[in-house]
Amino acid sequence: MDWESQPDPFRRYDQSLKLPLEHPQITKTPTYDSLFDTWQEPITPINRDSISRLFYESLAISAWKQAGENRWSLRVNPSSGDLHPTETYLIAGPIKDLSDVTAVYHYSAHAHALERRIILTNEEWKAINQNLPPGSLLISLASIYWRESWKYGERAFRYCHHDVGHAIGAITFAAAALGWKTRLIHSVTDNDLAILLGLHQQKGIEAEHPDCLLAIIPTDENITPVDFIVNLPTTLLKRVKDIEFEGCPNTLSNHHHEWPIIDTVAEACGFNGDSSMTHKQDPPTDRHIKNKFVEDRRVSARKIIRQRRSALAMDGHSTISKETFYRMMVHVSPHLGKNILEVLPWQAHVSLALFIHRVDDLPAGLYLLIRDPGHEPSLRKALRSDFRWEKPEDCPGSLHLYLLQHANSLDAARIINCHQDIAADGAFALGMLAEFDASLKQYGALFYPRLFWETGLIGQILYLEAEATGIRSTGIGCFFDDAMHEVLGISDHSWQSLYHFTVGGPPDDPRLQTLPSYWYLK
Ligand SMILES: Cc1cc2nc3c(=O)[nH]c(=O)nc-3n(C[C@H](O)[C@H](O)[C@H](O)COP(=O)(O)O)c2cc1C
Repeated sequence: MDWESQPDPFRRYDQSLKLPLEHPQITKTPTYDSLFDTWQEPITPINRDSISRLFYESLAISAWKQAGENRWSLRVNPSSGDLHPTETYLIAGPIKDLSDVTAVYHYSAHAHALERRIILTNEEWKAINQNLPPGSLLISLASIYWRESWKYGERAFRYCHHDVGHAIGAITFAAAALGWKTRLIHSVTDNDLAILLGLHQQKGIEAEHPDCLLAIIPTDENITPVDFIVNLPTTLLKRVKDIEFEGCPNTLSNHHHEWPIIDTVAEACGFNGDSSMTHKQDPPTDRHIKNKFVEDRRVSARKIIRQRRSALAMDGHSTISKETFYRMMVHVSPHLGKNILEVLPWQAHVSLALFIHRVDDLPAGLYLLIRDPGHEPSLRKALRSDFRWEKPEDCPGSLHLYLLQHANSLDAARIINCHQDIAADGAFALGMLAEFDASLKQYGALFYPRLFWETGLIGQILYLEAEATGIRSTGIGCFFDDAMHEVLGISDHSWQSLYHFTVGGPPDDPRLQTLPSYWYLK
């Protein structure tokens, strides 16, 4: 790692038209818990105010920290090492009070503004969104691997894709607070997406790699998989392929260290149109079934979203109640936490192995949360044969939570997580176990980054759950997967731990000064 070449965390498209966005106030409603109900919030119309909110509450800067001379920014979405490799694009028709034209914009988090890259014709826009419900928009995410490889080398690939999962979650939460649905689109190839965003014109190690396309759908109607098919017309791709996009990307570093393996892996995992992946059919839900398990805590969703922070340490003594823990598990389980998790079009492929340290009235030990009942037979086969598989006595019936082993797992959690105390000093820590061989066999190599997206999405929910409870959490990308597998008895690639997390009570850190998010803008 060379401090001299530290990449600029902010992409700018100099000389592009800039459309500054609003800095909206936090509101008491909607409440955070209401975002997990099966019914929608009232639908906010799409205009400059609501688009401003969408970005302000998902990917904008949330604060600056200062310690001595050093000052660094933090965002609404977390990022491994605070390096923020994820860039965001909006593709939208005319937006009231913001733009009269259909265009592709880059979102500049530093300016909290849209930077226009290209104007599309009305016919092109009609062809793109012909299957989407009226008023829908598209958001695309792209990664700059260099931002992470600068510090983490080869590990950058997976960290970038964890971050994509967090960003998908951040956008889905912000959209849900506006009453909008978010769905991952799986019909546009990476190459076509790169052309639409103008990324095909970027070369070298600082180039952005297209990751995914999300449809933001302002409707309370039930939407079906056919609504998620977006096609980019060939005439559009031909037209924009060779034209000059507005603005030049800024240079991020003066010199670089190459990590060619990352491009090789990215190429192998790209989506070229060849995949057996189809959108799952969401089970029909009764929109009036409310989760009876717990009452709404009436905490503002927007407050929770904007105040999210990673704990830098845990205090080693705070506990959480069993009910709080169960609620967190309910909210990361697909069948109950529908609004947020339904953004991904596939059945869950990730379950959670938990080290419970300090949850009141739950014995310390190793637990398993099965997020899709279909995982159970293969997990029973893969994990150690002497595990107990006991459901805690008063655990809600719909939660597939099992005690595997009574244990004081403080040391194990610390060691497995690269000796980070933060994993032992919280209420619980966990590893996200991905159904590895089977999902890759089913969908092909493109599913490898998508497994990280699923883990990042779960992580984003855990971050907000912790905030809603008045505690904190932290994503853990640095862990020893072999050691984790050994504890669980996993000896093949049927299940692999892809992302870790810790949740608990943080100590105060008075050394840091906090500055407002956009102190430098007038
Ligand atoms: C994918 C990922 C991996 C992370 N890994 C670690 C880790 O191993 N240890 C740690 O202390 N923090 C870790 N973090 C927390 C980041 O350092 C943190 O998100 C970043 O500094 C920005 O701070 P914020 O989350 O408060 O906005 C991770 C975060 C993410 C999203």
